[in-house]
Amino acid sequence: MTGAMSPRGAKALLTEIDHVGIAVRDLDAAIAYYRDTFGATVSHRESIDLDGVEEALIAVADSYIQLLSPTRPDSPVARFLERRGEGLHHVGYRVDDCATALESVRHGGGTLIDEAPRPGSRGTTVAFVHPKGAFGTLIELVQEPA
Ligand code: CO
Repeated sequence: MTGAMSPRGAKALLTEIDHVGIAVRDLDAAIAYYRDTFGATVSHRESIDLDGVEEALIAVADSYIQLLSPTRPDSPVARFLERRGEGLHHVGYRVDDCATALESVRHGGGTLIDEAPRPGSRGTTVAFVHPKGAFGTLIELVQEPA
């Protein structure tokens, strides 16, 4: 893919907004809210044991709303809910190659949560970038399944 170049010469690595992650305490209640209020339905639901979360993906055009609730009290999303309450948790940016995008973050002096790409939900490959050094937003880099 030939992306546009930034003034610093970096290739454009973000291809789309993959999803907006929203932390909620009651996943079924949040799903019902989006269904009853916006007619939006769940296209994928999955428990991710590694992250201690259950997620429901609601498709909006080519992107998703990702509703997240913790499946154990010590998971990062559980701690987030304790500290900050419900709300916007992270933004998932779609990339062609997760490793390349992660290397660009590392090269730029960013703080990585994942040192290497790892499996995400629905067969994706993902890596998280710490909000510190990313202007306060937790970033997830998402590479679609091949
Ligand atoms: Co996510």
